[in-house]
Amino acid sequence: MERTFLMIKPDGVQRGLIGEIIARFEKKGLKLVAGRFEVLPEDRVMEHYAEHKDKPFFPGLKAYITSGPCFLMVWEGKNVVSITRQMIGATNPAEALPGTIRGDFALEIGMNVIHGSDSDETADREIAIHFKPEEIVSFEKIDEKFLY
Ligand code: TYD
Ligand code: MG
Repeated sequence: MERTFLMIKPDGVQRGLIGEIIARFEKKGLKLVAGRFEVLPEDRVMEHYAEHKDKPFFPGLKAYITSGPCFLMVWEGKNVVSITRQMIGATNPAEALPGTIRGDFALEIGMNVIHGSDSDETADREIAIHFKPEEIVSFEKIDEKFLY
């Protein structure tokens, strides 16, 4: 089954949105298979956002993402990468549609509440950066009989 890496950013944690966000993915039918609450260490921020390290917004992004704890997760399900990207919405909350997480809960690109992997390859890479294989729990969920 496909997996993705999702992370509630410090603004989402501080604003009390963890439960609301997890509830959306759970109700969709996706399965939470790993989770950890932590302030990201600098080396992992650099690895995670390697593609953006030379962008003008990177210093601000780094300061923001390390400003407090994040909630890191691995989710599993059919088409989980594209479905969660759709549910998260556009990078800039000003362009994110109502009904999406960024569309409903954020105003600024620099504080857009949640990260989600953008492809299967990125998901594999990001899961490996943040989680050891033994931290990811495979289990059968009772409602899967009614989803697949
Ligand atoms: P990006 O990977 O383009 O967006 P997404 O999170 O939707 O995959 O950018 C990573 C993060 O960098 C983004 O969530 C917010 C931040 N960012 C800015 O602060 N300013 C910008 O102009 C861009 C493109 C991103
Ligand atoms: Mg991205």
